[in-house]
Amino acid sequence: MTNHVRIGHSDVVSGPLGLGTNKVGGHNLFTGLDDQTGIRTVKAALDHGMTMLDTAFMYGLGNSERLIGQAIADYDRHQIVIATKAAQDPAQGLRPNNRPAFLTAQVDHALQRLGTDYLDIFYIHFPDSDTPKYEAVGALQRLKEAGKIRAIGVSNFSPAQLAEANQDGYVDIVEDAYNLIDRQNEQRLMPYLQAHHISFVPYFPLASGLLTGKYRAGQTFSEDSWQARQANFHGDRFAAITAALATVVQPIAAAHQATIAQTILAWYIQAPTIAVVIPGARTPEQAMQNAQALTVRLTSQESKQIAAAFKQLPD
Ligand SMILES: NC(=O)c1ccc[n+]([C@@H]2O[C@H](COP(=O)([O-])OP(=O)(O)OC[C@H]3O[C@@H](n4cnc5c(N)ncnc54)[C@H](OP(=O)(O)O)[C@@H]3O)[C@@H](O)[C@H]2O)c1
Repeated sequence: MTNHVRIGHSDVVSGPLGLGTNKVGGHNLFTGLDDQTGIRTVKAALDHGMTMLDTAFMYGLGNSERLIGQAIADYDRHQIVIATKAAQDPAQGLRPNNRPAFLTAQVDHALQRLGTDYLDIFYIHFPDSDTPKYEAVGALQRLKEAGKIRAIGVSNFSPAQLAEANQDGYVDIVEDAYNLIDRQNEQRLMPYLQAHHISFVPYFPLASGLLTGKYRAGQTFSEDSWQARQANFHGDRFAAITAALATVVQPIAAAHQATIAQTILAWYIQAPTIAVVIPGARTPEQAMQNAQALTVRLTSQESKQIAAAFKQLPD
């Protein structure tokens, strides 16, 4: 039995593992996606113990939310924690808009697309440049009081924007980049989150697939690939990451009869600073495999070894 976590000051309780759904319907962000595969991926996640579904308007400009609405139609809604996000304003070339009236309308649109009458978590996806952040969150507090959302989140906010957003203590949860090879939020955000009882959900937990171990040392990427634009996939840094996976994580994974991805996900599940881990999946098979991380229990020694393996990577 896995530990459930309470989200911030809200009454939302989630299992520790969820599905990231930017590849469920996110045709505007990724190539090679298929809607029916997306629906099956969501169902596979729920069938294998993932309780949170992390989506956003931006994933397919509503398509991901619509597919999730279809996928969950036959499930018990109360067993699922739906988290969605909005801010990108179609009337402003998708620039972020945090105006109270805009966010309020976006919550209604998301409810319609998802076919539900409440959102467990609603995040402001990105900060805009001019709305006072406590006003934006104040609008979400009113939606919480009205029962349309159950927990208030912000994403991609700087520490100063987060402090402004949380002026009245209303923020329940923050979603931001974090994984074993990008640890800056341990200093940048986590001390504030812990001091204010705000939950943390890391995005890119698998470093976009790199931490599954499926990329090999010495592998090269074509110039037009997305990997070519990411420092993690280049030179000494890529070599150090693949070496750490092979020499430190793989033996620990083997001892647990687990995959590298399951072992990495188990590390986050056991990390006290992390509320829910939401690995993305492109296929039902990936979701099923990742869900098995719920059965892996690392010793504290193994967790320390994994953390240390990625501590000092070349830039
Ligand atoms: N708030 C924000 O601004 C923000 C930003 C980014 C993401 N997010 C959220 O965070 C979630 C997680 O981030 P992410 O999905 O971008 O990155 P991620 O979780 O680090 O990586 C997910 C990708 O890794 C590959 N993968 C996953 N499981 C695998 C397995 N078992 N074996 C082999 N490959 C596997 C898949 O891509 P391939 O098969 O294509 O390699 C998958 O799409 C997203 O889905 C989204 O919900 C939020």
